[in-house]
Amino acid sequence: MTLRMDEVLQQARPVLPVLVIEDVSLALDVARALHAGGVSVLEVTLRTPRALDAVAAIRKELPEVLVGAGTLIHTEQFLEAREAGAQFAVSPGCTERLAAAAEDSGLPYLPGVMTPSEVLLALEYGYRSLKLFPANGNASVKMLKSFKGPFTGIRFCPTGGVTPDNLLSFLRLPNVACVGGTWVAPANLIRARAWDQITQLAAEACELASS
Ligand code: 3PG
Repeated sequence: MTLRMDEVLQQARPVLPVLVIEDVSLALDVARALHAGGVSVLEVTLRTPRALDAVAAIRKELPEVLVGAGTLIHTEQFLEAREAGAQFAVSPGCTERLAAAAEDSGLPYLPGVMTPSEVLLALEYGYRSLKLFPANGNASVKMLKSFKGPFTGIRFCPTGGVTPDNLLSFLRLPNVACVGGTWVAPANLIRARAWDQITQLAAEACELASS
């Protein structure tokens, strides 16, 4: 069953880990470590050569986790992501062609926005769940507060600059569905196969969010 993007974000709350997988043989271990820490949705960025294989491996072996493909910046990547088994797609921005490719692929889509005009454009394409990228600390918290009035019903996933220190200031905003970020599974910990630390970081984020 295909979920809507708002349902994906709701399931991801509090955190949607953004993964950069350099070694595809580690993909499953990272996903398992995050799942052990309470994560049930994750995003594999298509920034590394074997990222689609990582999506496929997680999808096949860990059905209890929803896996999306991120950093989609070319139209053809939507079908590739879908064929690899991705259950949703994420872009750092949005264009008319990307929105059309997302629609053709049938994947739930989280387009990126940064300005009120970009929010309006995404709305014209029918998107009401948006990635705020980059999330620039307190300035972005203030901006999201200002977005609340004009953009009723739009929910954001701030990403790119979210840390354990500012996590709560984003999550407390009523128009924030969840936050995204690499800090729960950073590339250095993946390289070091530090699975317990990754589980711990995910668990800490979940605990912080429920405090
Ligand atoms: C993204 O791809 O969404 C961001 O680059 C993640 O940014 P972060 O490393 O600050 O979490």
